[in-house]
Amino acid sequence: MTQNATSLKTLCWCGGLDGYVEMIDQTLLPEKFELLECRDVETVWHAIKRLSVRGAPAIGVAAAMGLVLAIRDTQGDRAAVMERLAQASEYLASSRPTAVNLFWAIERMNRVANESADLDAEGLKNRLLEEAKTIRDEDAAMCRAIGEVGAPLIADGAGILTHCNAGGLATAEFGTALAPIYVAHANGRKLRVFADETRPLLQGSRLTAWELDRAGIDVTVLCDNMAASAMQQGLIDLVITGADRIAANGDVANKIGTYGIAVLANAHNIPFYVAAPSSTFDENTKSGADIPIEMRGDEEVRHGFGRQTAPDNVKCHCPAFDVTPAHLVTALITERGMIQPVSTETVAEVFK
Ligand code: MRU
Repeated sequence: MTQNATSLKTLCWCGGLDGYVEMIDQTLLPEKFELLECRDVETVWHAIKRLSVRGAPAIGVAAAMGLVLAIRDTQGDRAAVMERLAQASEYLASSRPTAVNLFWAIERMNRVANESADLDAEGLKNRLLEEAKTIRDEDAAMCRAIGEVGAPLIADGAGILTHCNAGGLATAEFGTALAPIYVAHANGRKLRVFADETRPLLQGSRLTAWELDRAGIDVTVLCDNMAASAMQQGLIDLVITGADRIAANGDVANKIGTYGIAVLANAHNIPFYVAAPSSTFDENTKSGADIPIEMRGDEEVRHGFGRQTAPDNVKCHCPAFDVTPAHLVTALITERGMIQPVSTETVAEVFK
């Protein structure tokens, strides 16, 4: 994959049907930039589980490509390929529960397979590879559109707070929350980004700070307990985060800590925006209470990055995500435009 300063390619399919998935191994950043080659579906599953590839849209793309790896060596007729596709779909769906893009991509691949009833086994395999590549390319295009829609919200000299990483690394390219920032920067606006470090896996300080710095954008890392004081000091003009799933009523699941930031923004009268492509909206989940929240292992809190930070015998609470109620979200920034105010009625537009 070729990379340039403002556009990171997080993952791609290399070669033809006998090719492989190449992805940036995000567990190694910012220390090392290394690419991970996935030649079977199990490697993709583990890459998703341990967060080598992470961020809702990027997980969706990885799952679509993982399905191609699963079916491409299947011997036999079309029915055999369909059977393997069903097995691999269930397997990949078990990797992480919260980001709806994972299930969205798996469903889309299955729908395309069902609709291609006229294709034989080889034709079907090639059709699914084409669809996985299309999902990647469409994700990049949606992120660019989100950037254009959101950039006018950023005034010259603005201070923007973001949480976790919803940048190029979390998508096929360009990001969601960071997309308006990239566009505003490219348009010559001066801005300053504050990146919450985002305990326990530090996606903010390891990934957001890394990619913004690489793009020449002014970025300052905040420990997670510093956002309130930064707001009180007037450093923050707006907050933009990403989302893992947006329920039909506009409630937003995103990285643990997002809800706290939304409450703080509300208390300081600071607009709180969520940027997400339509693939992150889930019509079938009525409200935030219905969103499955991934629980991660105690070790991620207890032994963060090598050093022991809590005694072995104490319990740790490890939800990976939280839910921000719709009423705390000023607007949703999507590739199709802004949704404001955020309600069941306005969110319904996305599903049309
Ligand atoms: O656990 P992660 O790193 O996959 O969590 C990622 C987030 O919470 C992102 O904000 C979200 O997926 C949006 S990415 C465009």
